[in-house]
Amino acid sequence: MTDTESHTWSRIQELMGRFQRANRSVLGVPMWNFSIPYKLKQLIDLTAQRNYLFTYDGKEYGPSLNIPKALAVYTRGSTYREGTSIPPSFYHQAPYIDFLASHDRSA
Ligand SMILES: Cc1cc2nc3c(=O)[nH]c(=O)nc-3n(C[C@H](O)[C@H](O)[C@H](O)COP(=O)(O)O)c2cc1C
Repeated sequence: MTDTESHTWSRIQELMGRFQRANRSVLGVPMWNFSIPYKLKQLIDLTAQRNYLFTYDGKEYGPSLNIPKALAVYTRGSTYREGTSIPPSFYHQAPYIDFLASHDRSA
């Protein structure tokens, strides 16, 4: 790696260390434009590294962390109901985080 790449990778490892050292995960997740805030997405994109936060054997995803429980609290300003103009496929907040959390043994 170049010096810049090494520096970036060590910063990513520091961030992953926060998850690796934790014995619980607590996430407060507001809905932003039907999804999650971009800073949280950026944290996920930086830290969700194979064999650090999750495993993948070419077929199945699995956990790499040893966190027995996670608490995710979802908030949003509006109510979305069946039959309204907001399609269910726009609902990217809880299902996405629930999926990620269940693969670090936190479900
Ligand atoms: C940039 C931004 C985008 C938002 N997008 C949505 C949205 O798509 N749907 C929704 O229900 N609320 C949306 N909200 C409202 C937040 O979900 C709400 O502010 C958050 O859940 C915290 O609640 P509070 O403002 O009452 O503290 C948005 C807020 C911000 C700042």
